[in-house]
Amino acid sequence: MIRSVLLGTGSALPKRLVSNAELAEQVDTTDEWIVERTGIRQRYIAGEGESTSTLATQAAERAIEAADIEAASIDLIVLATATPDNTFPATATQVQAALGCRGGIAFDVAAVCSGFLYAVTTADAMLRTGMAKRALVIGAETFSRILDWEDRTTCVLFGDGAGAIVLEAQDVTDDGPGILASKLHADGAHQELLYVDGGPATTGTVGKLRMKGREVFRHAVVNLADVLREVLEQAGFLASDIDWVVPHQANARILDATARKLGLPAEKVVVTVDQHANTSAASVPLALDQAVRDGRIQKGQLVMLEAMGGGFTWGAALLRI
Ligand code: ACO
Repeated sequence: MIRSVLLGTGSALPKRLVSNAELAEQVDTTDEWIVERTGIRQRYIAGEGESTSTLATQAAERAIEAADIEAASIDLIVLATATPDNTFPATATQVQAALGCRGGIAFDVAAVCSGFLYAVTTADAMLRTGMAKRALVIGAETFSRILDWEDRTTCVLFGDGAGAIVLEAQDVTDDGPGILASKLHADGAHQELLYVDGGPATTGTVGKLRMKGREVFRHAVVNLADVLREVLEQAGFLASDIDWVVPHQANARILDATARKLGLPAEKVVVTVDQHANTSAASVPLALDQAVRDGRIQKGQLVMLEAMGGGFTWGAALLRI
């Protein structure tokens, strides 16, 4: 059977690290409040010369190197972002040009924090139906550029970064590697809970992120537990079969609550929210790359990716490494 097999991972962070203490010098907050409510200790913020496309390109170069392939052999780039460099062209085509690839398919997907799950699932469907052979799937964001730095209820929660993976269509046996199952959802009924108050067709400005955090939290835990169960059922596995969960890193308390609902031990959950804060579409591939590179995630293991974000959108994917 044809499956999308993971060949390599990569990630990139801006140069500037901003600790909670440094943030507390500009915003009415404290390190204690941020750590206790979110688990976040620091984040990376893009500076001059750094943007979504530059971070995405760096992450992609590292994933291509890890996959040990030529960039020119990539015939599909799907990039998830809510903070593109420009309204158009798609950031995916900017990355394509920077990598020196030409002629393949390249486009962006907008599903905010679930963007990487949407991108992976789209790329997987295209690889399995033969539309492409090798895909670069990227999650990249510069949320610092859409934060209201006067709003302490949101600006402390986010950071910038990018993560990327290379997937290849391969003919494998049933117990072989690749994406085994995935499921995506959206429900546009709750847009007032998490949105950006601008855009090219409304205000003509980029706008700032607005969020009712407590309500988002409630929806996140319920939706994530449900979609994880759906994917396990689709793939014919139990929660206890999972070796690692690589979740969207919004808040340590959402990670704990979701793991508890599924009966998963905290030791199986990859956590980077303390170091990166919430990097939206970049958080899952950033965490995945970290756990692959430090040797936690090994060949043959079952890994669950999951995310929930603005829209609302949410999804999960199960893969064997
Ligand atoms: N520093 C200090 N005090 C603060 C800060 C801050 N940065 N922000 C808010 N407060 C105060 C509030 O003003 C409030 O004070 P009051 O009681 O005097 O009115 C108090 O802290 C409690 O505020 P709550 O909003 O009720 O705090 P809560 O425990 O719900 O935590 C948080 C807020 C961290 C945003 C939480 O609700 C959360 O993480 N929600 C999930 C949202 C999220 O992660 N969204 C990301 C995108 S979607 C996704 O990825 C799932």
